[in-house]
Amino acid sequence: MLKKKDFGKDFKWGVTISAFQNEGAAFEDGKSASIWDTFTSDSENVNDGESPGSTSDFYHNYKKDIKRARKLGFKVFRFSLSWPRIIPDGKGEPNPLGIDFYNRVIDTCLKQGLEPWVTIYHWDLPQVLEDEGGWTNREILQWFSNYVEVVTSAFGDRVKHWIVMNEPMTFVGLGYFTGYHAPGRNGIGNFMKAAHHATLCMAEGGRIVKRNVGDAEVGVALSCSYVRPVNKFLFNRSAARRVEGLLNRFFIEPLLGLGYPTDIIPALNIIKSNYLPGDEERLEFDFDFIGLQYYFRVVAKFSLFPPVLFATEVPPWSRKTKLNSMGLDVYPKGLSSLLNFYSKYDNIRKIILTESGVCYPDFLRGDKVNDARRKKYHQKMLKQVKKAIKRDIPVGGYFVWTLVDNFEWREGFKPRFGLVYNDFKTQNRTVKASGKWFKKFLRDE
Ligand code: NOJ
Repeated sequence: MLKKKDFGKDFKWGVTISAFQNEGAAFEDGKSASIWDTFTSDSENVNDGESPGSTSDFYHNYKKDIKRARKLGFKVFRFSLSWPRIIPDGKGEPNPLGIDFYNRVIDTCLKQGLEPWVTIYHWDLPQVLEDEGGWTNREILQWFSNYVEVVTSAFGDRVKHWIVMNEPMTFVGLGYFTGYHAPGRNGIGNFMKAAHHATLCMAEGGRIVKRNVGDAEVGVALSCSYVRPVNKFLFNRSAARRVEGLLNRFFIEPLLGLGYPTDIIPALNIIKSNYLPGDEERLEFDFDFIGLQYYFRVVAKFSLFPPVLFATEVPPWSRKTKLNSMGLDVYPKGLSSLLNFYSKYDNIRKIILTESGVCYPDFLRGDKVNDARRKKYHQKMLKQVKKAIKRDIPVGGYFVWTLVDNFEWREGFKPRFGLVYNDFKTQNRTVKASGKWFKKFLRDE
């Protein structure tokens, strides 16, 4: 039986959301377009031609939602700031109405007894900056630093937990290599530039947070996957190691001072063509915690395409495995080996699971949503966490993705991840069985 006390009294229990996925109000109170506003304005870029509209309208419902998080028993509320809401021209003066909104959100969290954990960048780059090259332009280092200065000066008196960036591999890989996500660009050159600039910005962001908010804890949130080879053949095993290099080591290692994982993917050396003198040191920063976000397992095999990686994924639908409603291979047990893996790095002091969740189709029947599978999923993940803590792996928190169903990027509204069901037409919220389970679990001492 899972008991809250098995996780220790300092363990952080949280829920998490993001600006673009939850806020709506895309052009209210002076906000400018983000790359995701532009991208989703073309219905071809979203499943079923959906558009985010007001999504779960956090901009107007934030009080109710934060209160709901507290009622479910959580103590941490993680949300992200929208760069184009705070600095509409990307580089210059802050928008007082944007700052006011987040002041209200932060104050509501504090009033409800929730610790605000702020993500500075969760993929919604101002479109005006993308027009100048976005993440592929090295000037982003200045633009991003200015943005971090602005938000830490505005909110640092009350916000003591900062996550500089969310899942760089997702927004760089899908946004600048495959073009599946905004801004829809592709190619290896774009990928390498964007990736290097994102790493520099994470480290620089960490330094600015520490300088401006002396008593802050700062981290980054990285995606990771449990990777295994399709069979025992050597060429498939080494393909799986390269995929691990890309998905699990690419960003953490330069931040820890180990450089990009060129040992396993030698072609990654081409990223160095984007280095300026001093970059090697600039990439390194000693974070207080590392956020991990594990959603799916990858089965890898050797392939000539794409070159550089020489590996590909065996599609989950072609294997006998459990899929979520995005067709991803759901495998909670993989968390154990990932936590083991990350705990071996000398300089990782604390791990927080800054997101964890699953999407399954949900049905509102009367006033109930019986999402038994989601409840089970979280229980299974938590069992892995409990085991890891027993093995002295320093896992310090579990944040559920997500509080209320929201807009799942290119996949639109179909994948529901929330502990609370949302009717997107009426904005009526209904706590699902998974949410009720958390409420009970978090109450027990
Ligand atoms: C990770 C991302 O941070 C979040 O935005 C997304 O909704 C979840 N994964 C689920 O796919």
